[in-house]
Amino acid sequence: MNNQELLKKIVSHSKEYGFVYPSSEIYDGLSAVYDYGPYGSLLKNNIKEFWWKSMVQLNDNIVGLDSAIFMHSNTWQASGHIDAFNDPLIDNRDSKKRYRADLLVEEYIEKIHSKISKEIKKAEKRYGDKFDKEEFLKTNLRVIENSKKISEISKKLNHCLINKDLVELKNLILELGINDPVSGTQNWTDVKQFNLMFSTKIGSNVDTSSLIYLRPETAQGIFLNFLNVVNSTRVKIPFGIAQIGKAFRNEIIARQFVFRMREFEQMEMQFFVEPGKEMNFFDDWKNKRMKWHKSLDLGDHLYRFHNHENLAHYANAACDIEFLFPMGFKELEGIHSRTDFDLKSHQKLSGKKINYYDQKTKSSFVPYVIETSVGLDRLFLSVLSASYQNQKLKNGTERIFLKIPFEIAPIKAAILPLNAKDNLPEKAKLLYDELKTFFNIQYDEKDSIGKRYRRQDAIGTPYCITFDYDTLKDNSVTIRNRNSMVQERVLLSSTKDYIINNVSIDNLLTQV
Ligand code: GAP
Repeated sequence: MNNQELLKKIVSHSKEYGFVYPSSEIYDGLSAVYDYGPYGSLLKNNIKEFWWKSMVQLNDNIVGLDSAIFMHSNTWQASGHIDAFNDPLIDNRDSKKRYRADLLVEEYIEKIHSKISKEIKKAEKRYGDKFDKEEFLKTNLRVIENSKKISEISKKLNHCLINKDLVELKNLILELGINDPVSGTQNWTDVKQFNLMFSTKIGSNVDTSSLIYLRPETAQGIFLNFLNVVNSTRVKIPFGIAQIGKAFRNEIIARQFVFRMREFEQMEMQFFVEPGKEMNFFDDWKNKRMKWHKSLDLGDHLYRFHNHENLAHYANAACDIEFLFPMGFKELEGIHSRTDFDLKSHQKLSGKKINYYDQKTKSSFVPYVIETSVGLDRLFLSVLSASYQNQKLKNGTERIFLKIPFEIAPIKAAILPLNAKDNLPEKAKLLYDELKTFFNIQYDEKDSIGKRYRRQDAIGTPYCITFDYDTLKDNSVTIRNRNSMVQERVLLSSTKDYIINNVSIDNLLTQV
């Protein structure tokens, strides 16, 4: 299955099995906006719980916050979003489609990367165990030529973006001969800047109402509450404030399912440190966050760091954790060293002092900030895309199952009486009532046991607990493991502990 097919399968599986629906579907949908269904919302909540507990519960120097989406519009003036939160846009006159000019170039670069990967795979096959990748990268002429191309194009792109040189950016697209994927032509317009923030009016009287923006990041709510948190709690620098919440961006490219949405959720943590010490904390948080992602056990090879050369207006260092989505390696989380830019800008525009007084050194300063910012929806997609399995069974049939980590699976166990008679349902429902206070479970007595297993596989349920005629005699049940399909006989009295031990989010928390 190629990558495009995999994404299509995930989109249709998500809809069919109640994970994600297109928003406002009966009115033909709203582009780049999605609704999470019964299993999708459970999975999303479990991911949130894992992140929140990893931040707020496991770190005694990180506290939580839930700030409002509406904020004073000066917030966005100070943060630079009104002036600088723009994407460079380009239209193709023939297809009438609009693109992000920088992404057209990045996709071109990605294609050259794929060529290099293909060369490596070919050589691996040819040389087998004797293959020395490092040596190959240094000596293969095609690889050297393509690597040189990548670095030259990246340099030119960064130059255009840093200097906001839109004319040069268009020239670069023409120079590379990039065609519109729809019309196949190079009939491009000039590149224009486009601000991504949504605006609305606040207040009941339209004439006197004032313009406000839907927040494009949750971080500013943390900066505006920095003093409140310092004054109302016992936090001491270095400390962090964590928040989960909605963010809104009028994205131009809206073709990648929940990867790029106009309404999405962020999980952000701002870590306030003494100026001059930020780089140590930056490295520290890079490693901690990578470890956190890998603890989900989706496959270490699916993650990589990507250091930024083109820094945002507020940063002195930045790095992405990228994930191998069906569309290729793409940003999953950003880790930014944001300096004192935000606090200082808010101090200047509000006229209020935003200092931290250090009792030990008896000095005041504006803290520097390390930010970790992960998109919840992208995390959700990373879990779904790595979990989607199409398995050929020995008997020639296929099964589709979601290999979601047990700890974050939407439904932890399904209780299935072999038949809907002979006192099996009554006995099974007793266990259902006992277990439902601990985690999300389902009871199902409809259809053959095989069909019921498949239904649970499709939503990623780790365990199926079957009540059969032996259960009536020996008070034991069969527990089937979703991944291995191995069935184990377990005493009814041990079932609760068996499931809890294997699905509890605490198992993940001990690894981060
Ligand atoms: N406060 C910093 C900030 O917002 P960002 O790199 O623009 O930085 C952080 O966004 C994360 O938010 C990204 O790594 C990504 O996971 C997620 N994100 C950004 N735009 C998104 C969108 N349109 N749809 C879904 N997730 C998005």
